[in-house]
Amino acid sequence: MPNSRIPVISLDGPTASGKGTVAHRVAERLGFHYLDSGALYRLTALSALRLRTPLNDEHALARLAEGLNCSFSEEEVFLAGENVTQAIRAEEVGNTASRIATLPTVRQGLVALQLRFRAPPGLVADGRDMGTVVFPHAQLKVFLTASVETRAERRYKQLIGKGFSANMDDLLKDLTERDARDANRSVAPLKPADGAYMLDTSDMTADEAVEQVLGWYASARKNG
Ligand code: DC
Repeated sequence: MPNSRIPVISLDGPTASGKGTVAHRVAERLGFHYLDSGALYRLTALSALRLRTPLNDEHALARLAEGLNCSFSEEEVFLAGENVTQAIRAEEVGNTASRIATLPTVRQGLVALQLRFRAPPGLVADGRDMGTVVFPHAQLKVFLTASVETRAERRYKQLIGKGFSANMDDLLKDLTERDARDANRSVAPLKPADGAYMLDTSDMTADEAVEQVLGWYASARKNG
Protein backbone atom coordinates (compact mmCIF):
# COMPACT_ATOMS: atom_id res chain seq x y z
CA MET A 1 0.00 0.00 0.00
CA PRO A 2 1.53 3.41 -0.87
CA ASN A 3 2.22 5.36 2.29
CA SER A 4 -0.21 8.13 1.38
CA ARG A 5 -3.05 5.56 1.20
CA ILE A 6 -2.52 4.28 4.74
CA PRO A 7 -5.34 5.79 6.80
CA VAL A 8 -4.48 8.15 9.65
CA ILE A 9 -6.78 9.43 12.38
CA SER A 10 -5.32 12.47 14.15
CA LEU A 11 -6.40 13.22 17.70
CA ASP A 12 -5.10 16.51 19.01
CA GLY A 13 -5.88 18.40 22.18
CA PRO A 14 -4.52 19.86 25.40
CA THR A 15 -2.87 17.88 28.14
CA ALA A 16 -5.17 15.54 30.13
CA SER A 17 -8.07 16.05 27.71
CA GLY A 18 -8.46 12.28 27.59
CA LYS A 19 -6.98 11.91 24.13
CA GLY A 20 -4.43 9.27 25.20
CA THR A 21 -7.12 6.92 26.46
CA VAL A 22 -9.45 7.62 23.54
CA ALA A 23 -6.70 7.30 20.91
CA HIS A 24 -5.46 4.05 22.42
CA ARG A 25 -8.92 2.48 22.46
CA VAL A 26 -9.78 3.68 18.95
CA ALA A 27 -6.53 2.14 17.70
CA GLU A 28 -7.34 -1.11 19.47
CA ARG A 29 -10.85 -1.27 18.04
CA LEU A 30 -9.62 -0.69 14.49
CA GLY A 31 -6.46 -2.81 14.85
CA PHE A 32 -4.42 0.31 13.96
CA HIS A 33 -0.99 1.37 15.18
CA TYR A 34 -0.83 4.03 17.85
CA LEU A 35 1.52 7.00 18.04
CA ASP A 36 1.82 8.80 21.38
CA SER A 37 3.75 11.80 20.05
CA GLY A 38 3.79 13.41 23.50
CA ALA A 39 5.92 10.47 24.66
CA LEU A 40 8.57 11.46 22.10
CA TYR A 41 8.73 14.99 23.54
CA ARG A 42 8.82 13.51 27.03
CA LEU A 43 11.65 11.11 26.05
CA THR A 44 13.64 14.02 24.66
CA ALA A 45 12.98 15.95 27.89
CA LEU A 46 14.01 13.00 30.06
CA SER A 47 17.24 12.58 28.09
CA ALA A 48 17.98 16.30 28.43
CA LEU A 49 17.33 16.29 32.17
CA ARG A 50 19.52 13.24 32.69
CA LEU A 51 22.35 14.59 30.55
CA ARG A 52 21.93 18.07 32.06
CA THR A 53 21.62 19.54 28.59
CA PRO A 54 20.88 23.26 29.00
CA LEU A 55 17.25 23.85 28.04
CA ASN A 56 18.25 26.82 25.90
CA ASP A 57 20.76 24.83 23.83
CA GLU A 58 18.45 24.33 20.88
CA HIS A 59 20.97 22.44 18.76
CA ALA A 60 21.99 19.97 21.46
CA LEU A 61 18.30 19.33 22.20
CA ALA A 62 17.54 18.82 18.51
CA ARG A 63 20.35 16.27 18.29
CA LEU A 64 18.86 14.43 21.27
CA ALA A 65 15.44 14.42 19.55
CA GLU A 66 16.78 13.17 16.22
CA GLY A 67 18.88 10.48 17.83
CA LEU A 68 16.30 9.16 20.29
CA ASN A 69 16.95 5.48 20.80
CA CYS A 70 13.44 4.56 21.84
CA SER A 71 11.02 1.72 21.37
CA PHE A 72 7.43 1.04 22.29
CA SER A 73 5.65 -2.15 23.26
CA GLU A 74 1.92 -2.50 24.05
CA GLU A 75 1.88 -0.32 27.18
CA GLU A 76 5.56 0.41 27.73
CA VAL A 77 8.16 2.89 26.57
CA PHE A 78 11.89 2.19 26.46
CA LEU A 79 14.85 4.54 26.18
CA ALA A 80 18.09 2.82 25.20
CA GLY A 81 16.56 -0.43 26.44
CA GLU A 82 15.52 0.97 29.84
CA ASN A 83 11.85 0.88 30.76
CA VAL A 84 10.96 4.57 31.31
CA THR A 85 7.16 4.23 31.16
CA GLN A 86 6.76 5.73 34.65
CA ALA A 87 9.70 8.12 34.52
CA ILE A 88 8.39 10.04 31.50
CA ARG A 89 5.05 10.70 33.25
CA ALA A 90 6.59 12.72 36.10
CA GLU A 91 5.40 16.34 36.18
CA GLU A 92 8.95 17.69 35.86
CA VAL A 93 9.40 15.74 32.63
CA GLY A 94 6.03 16.95 31.29
CA ASN A 95 6.88 20.56 32.04
CA THR A 96 10.30 20.23 30.44
CA ALA A 97 8.70 18.56 27.41
CA SER A 98 6.32 21.48 27.04
CA ARG A 99 9.25 23.92 27.19
CA ILE A 100 11.45 22.16 24.65
CA ALA A 101 8.43 21.62 22.39
CA THR A 102 8.51 25.38 21.72
CA LEU A 103 11.84 24.93 19.87
CA PRO A 104 11.45 24.53 16.09
CA THR A 105 14.60 22.42 15.70
CA VAL A 106 13.38 19.94 18.33
CA ARG A 107 10.00 19.65 16.59
CA GLN A 108 11.72 19.17 13.24
CA GLY A 109 14.03 16.57 14.79
CA LEU A 110 11.04 14.44 15.75
CA VAL A 111 9.13 14.58 12.45
CA ALA A 112 10.86 11.67 10.67
CA LEU A 113 10.40 9.46 13.71
CA GLN A 114 6.68 10.27 13.84
CA LEU A 115 6.13 9.61 10.12
CA ARG A 116 7.58 6.11 10.54
CA PHE A 117 4.57 5.13 12.67
CA ARG A 118 2.31 5.30 9.59
CA ALA A 119 2.10 1.65 8.65
CA PRO A 120 -0.67 -0.68 7.40
CA PRO A 121 -3.46 -1.14 8.25
CA GLY A 122 -3.57 2.39 9.72
CA LEU A 123 -2.50 4.79 12.45
CA VAL A 124 -4.11 6.71 15.28
CA ALA A 125 -1.83 9.65 16.03
CA ASP A 126 -2.20 11.42 19.36
CA GLY A 127 -0.66 14.84 20.05
CA ARG A 128 -0.88 18.58 19.54
CA ASP A 129 -0.01 19.02 15.86
CA MET A 130 -0.88 15.67 14.32
CA GLY A 131 -3.64 17.08 12.11
CA THR A 132 -2.05 20.50 11.53
CA VAL A 133 1.60 19.64 10.79
CA VAL A 134 2.67 15.99 10.87
CA PHE A 135 -0.32 14.33 9.14
CA PRO A 136 -2.15 17.23 7.42
CA HIS A 137 -3.87 14.75 5.06
CA ALA A 138 -5.27 12.53 7.82
CA GLN A 139 -8.55 10.87 6.81
CA LEU A 140 -10.15 11.98 10.07
CA LYS A 141 -9.08 14.82 12.34
CA VAL A 142 -10.44 15.25 15.84
CA PHE A 143 -9.72 17.98 18.38
CA LEU A 144 -10.48 16.92 21.94
CA THR A 145 -11.10 19.42 24.70
CA ALA A 146 -12.27 19.39 28.30
CA SER A 147 -12.48 22.11 30.93
CA VAL A 148 -9.25 22.81 32.82
CA GLU A 149 -10.94 21.66 36.08
CA THR A 150 -11.97 18.33 34.56
CA ARG A 151 -8.47 17.86 33.21
CA ALA A 152 -6.81 18.73 36.54
CA GLU A 153 -9.06 16.22 38.28
CA ARG A 154 -8.21 13.52 35.72
CA ARG A 155 -4.50 14.23 36.01
CA TYR A 156 -4.76 14.14 39.83
CA LYS A 157 -6.37 10.70 39.78
CA GLN A 158 -3.86 9.47 37.20
CA LEU A 159 -0.86 10.61 39.24
CA ILE A 160 -2.18 9.27 42.55
CA GLY A 161 -3.06 5.98 40.82
CA LYS A 162 0.53 5.70 39.64
CA GLY A 163 1.90 6.31 43.12
CA PHE A 164 3.06 9.92 42.54
CA SER A 165 2.09 12.66 44.99
CA ALA A 166 -0.12 15.43 43.61
CA ASN A 167 -1.73 18.68 44.66
CA MET A 168 -4.86 20.03 42.92
CA ASP A 169 -3.88 23.72 43.11
CA ASP A 170 -0.43 23.04 41.67
CA LEU A 171 -1.95 20.92 38.92
CA LEU A 172 -4.47 23.62 37.96
CA LYS A 173 -1.68 26.19 37.81
CA ASP A 174 0.61 23.89 35.80
CA LEU A 175 -2.13 22.94 33.34
CA THR A 176 -3.11 26.56 32.77
CA GLU A 177 0.51 27.55 32.19
CA ARG A 178 1.14 24.58 29.92
CA ASP A 179 -2.03 25.30 27.89
CA ALA A 180 -0.90 28.88 27.36
CA ARG A 181 2.59 27.78 26.31
CA ASP A 182 1.27 25.07 23.95
CA ALA A 183 -1.31 27.42 22.38
CA ASN A 184 0.87 30.51 22.07
CA ARG A 185 4.15 29.12 20.75
CA SER A 186 5.06 30.36 17.30
CA VAL A 187 5.76 26.90 15.83
CA ALA A 188 2.93 24.36 15.53
CA PRO A 189 0.75 25.95 18.22
CA LEU A 190 -2.03 23.85 19.67
CA LYS A 191 -5.13 24.62 17.60
CA PRO A 192 -7.76 22.61 15.76
CA ALA A 193 -6.72 21.52 12.25
CA ASP A 194 -8.78 22.64 9.27
CA GLY A 195 -11.71 20.28 9.01
CA ALA A 196 -11.25 18.84 12.52
CA TYR A 197 -14.27 17.60 14.45
CA MET A 198 -14.47 19.19 17.90
CA LEU A 199 -15.11 16.83 20.82
CA ASP A 200 -15.60 18.24 24.33
CA THR A 201 -15.17 15.31 26.70
CA SER A 202 -15.88 17.19 29.97
CA ASP A 203 -19.18 15.35 30.46
CA MET A 204 -18.39 12.21 28.50
CA THR A 205 -17.04 8.84 29.47
CA ALA A 206 -14.05 7.56 27.55
CA ASP A 207 -16.27 4.91 25.93
CA GLU A 208 -18.70 7.55 24.65
CA ALA A 209 -15.82 9.54 23.17
CA VAL A 210 -14.43 6.39 21.51
CA GLU A 211 -17.82 5.59 19.94
CA GLN A 212 -18.10 9.14 18.64
CA VAL A 213 -14.66 8.99 16.98
CA LEU A 214 -15.39 5.56 15.48
CA GLY A 215 -18.72 6.88 14.15
CA TRP A 216 -16.98 9.84 12.50
CA TYR A 217 -14.35 7.53 11.02
CA ALA A 218 -17.00 5.21 9.58
CA SER A 219 -18.67 8.25 7.91
CA ALA A 220 -15.33 9.59 6.66
CA ARG A 221 -14.57 6.22 5.03
CA LYS A 222 -18.00 6.08 3.42
CA ASN A 223 -17.58 9.59 2.02
CA GLY A 224 -13.90 9.28 1.13
O1 DC B 1 0.59 14.86 25.63
P1 DC B 1 1.73 15.02 26.65
O2 DC B 1 1.31 15.71 27.93
O3 DC B 1 2.41 13.72 26.92
O4 DC B 1 2.82 15.97 25.93
C1 DC B 1 3.93 16.51 26.60
C2 DC B 1 4.34 17.83 25.99
O5 DC B 1 4.83 17.61 24.67
C3 DC B 1 3.21 18.84 25.85
O6 DC B 1 3.23 19.81 26.87
C4 DC B 1 3.44 19.53 24.54
C5 DC B 1 4.39 18.63 23.79
N1 DC B 1 3.81 18.04 22.59
C6 DC B 1 3.85 18.78 21.43
O7 DC B 1 4.30 19.94 21.45
N2 DC B 1 3.43 18.23 20.26
C7 DC B 1 2.92 16.99 20.23
N3 DC B 1 2.50 16.49 19.07
C8 DC B 1 2.84 16.23 21.42
C9 DC B 1 3.28 16.79 22.58
